[in-house]
Parts: sequence; structure tokens; C-alpha cells
Amino acid sequence: MAGEPGWVPPGVDTQRANVARVYDYWLGGSHNFLVDQDVGRAIAAVEPNMRAIARANRAFLGRAVRFLAAAGVRQFLDIGSGIPTQGNVHEIAQQADPGARVVYVDIDPVAIAHSRAILARNENAVIIDADLRDPEKILGHDASRHLIDFGRPAGLLLMVVLHFIADAEDPRRIVATLRDALAPGSYLVLGHATDEGKPEVAQATKKVYNHRVATNLHLRPRAEILRFFDGFDLVDPGLVYVPLWRPDSPADVPADPRQFGCLVGVARKP
Ligand SMILES: C[S@@+](CC[C@H](N)C(=O)[O-])C[C@H]1O[C@@H](n2cnc3c(N)ncnc32)[C@H](O)[C@@H]1O
Repeated sequence: MAGEPGWVPPGVDTQRANVARVYDYWLGGSHNFLVDQDVGRAIAAVEPNMRAIARANRAFLGRAVRFLAAAGVRQFLDIGSGIPTQGNVHEIAQQADPGARVVYVDIDPVAIAHSRAILARNENAVIIDADLRDPEKILGHDASRHLIDFGRPAGLLLMVVLHFIADAEDPRRIVATLRDALAPGSYLVLGHATDEGKPEVAQATKKVYNHRVATNLHLRPRAEILRFFDGFDLVDPGLVYVPLWRPDSPADVPADPRQFGCLVGVARKP
């Protein structure tokens, strides 16, 4: 299409907003189209905190990866990894140990193409084009087998992706399949949107999202999100609103953390 930037991979629908690019827009990235920006703005009009929520989620991801690295984890499986932005998992993990290995997984062609480009010279990090709904394919993929030793502890990152899986697609089975492939001492890092803190805003956000973005958002209550941690032991402070998870500074904790409609947790497989 005339006027498209050169980084657009062939076959991408530039007329329909999608998950990865709308998130990139909220994070201040440049790999999104007008349609994504329009939807991003429409949602931000309903949920004025949206950009702050996206940035807080990203900051949590950084804290969680540093926590895992400090616990000795040197291999990471990041599913629904998104369009690369600042503070990517391999950058943080390889800062702790240049030999740390990262397998990214996404279904979005822009996320995949951009990840491939930035990882071209990194022999310890790779992106797989695969669907979270097919965990067996992810686990059996040559790149996972090559970079991840499933006999040793690994970090499984499911950061703001499970809410794109409908109940009918059995997200608990998906997480359990991934969990069962992990060695004891592995960790799960999970973040999930919830409608519990401020139900009206969350439902209004979901309505705009599901009307205009190609993939539906499935908000879940805390109790359901907690069940994704079955078979893991949550580390302190448990499943909490995103700014409350081991903040770098007390100043980072807002007066009402429920304004950040995302629950996060880190848990260890015993
Ligand atoms: C909201 S973004 C989050 C990106 C990243 N995890 C982060 O925290 O910054 C969700 C990502 O999940 C990806 N995604 C959605 N459904 C997926 C699926 N079924 N399998 C793999 N990736 C998926 C999207 O393409 C998008 O890149």
C-alpha cells in the first residue's frame, strides 16, 4: 500500500487494529499504524490511565526478570512477547549474564519481523512464530529445544497475553502443559487484566477493544487468575496490582493501585 513504512512485513492488514500494535502505541513505540493509534486513543479516552498501565506492566516485567536472574535463572521462555521496545527480556537477562538465553514467541507478524531484526546478531535469543494456544508446538520447536534445557530451571513469562485466550480455549490447560514441561525451581511470571478493581471502566474498555481490535479481550476476576498459578508457589507479595509488586521505590506506588487494572505475580515451581 502506498505510504506504508518500509518495515511493514508482507501480508499485514494495516486497516484493522491489532493487539501487538495497539500496545506498542500505548508504550510510545513506532511500529503501529493509524488504525492502531485511533483505537489506542479511543480506549485511552475510556481509560485515561491506559498508557501508565502499559508502562507499569513493562516496568514490572523488568523487575520480575531481574528477580529471576538474581535467583539464578538463565533461560527464559517469553510467550506473547510483543513488539520489541525498551527493556526487552534478553537485554535485562543478558545484562545479568551475557550467556542468558531467551526464546520469544508471538503470533504477530510485526512483532516477529522486528524481533528477528534486533536479534539477528544475538545467538542466545530467538523469536518463534507460534501460538500460545498450541503449547506443544512451542515446547517441541527446534529453537526452544536448542536454547532451553528443560532439565534446568527456566523462567516462563506470560505477560498480559492470557487474557487474549477465551475460556473455551482452555487457558488453564495451556498453562498446565507449559508448567509440566518446566524443571523444579522454574518460575512463572504472569500478568492479567482484571475487571475487579474498577468494573465500569474495565467493562467500557473491553467493549471498545472487542469492537475494534482483531482479538477479543477476556477480563477475569482475581480468583480465576490465581488458579493459573496452580502447581506453583507464589513469592511475596503474591498476586497484586502491578505497581505493588516489589516496587523499586515507595514513590512508585500510587494512592490507589486498583487504578492499574492488571494483576501480576511471580511463582516458583517446587
Ligand atoms: C499486550 S501485548 C504484551 C507484550 C509483552 N508481553 C509485554 O508485556 O510487553 C500481547 C502480545 O501477545 C501476543 N499474542 C496474543 N495472542 C497470542 C497467542 N495466542 N499466541 C502468541 N502470542 C499472542 C500479541 O501479538 C502481543 O504481541
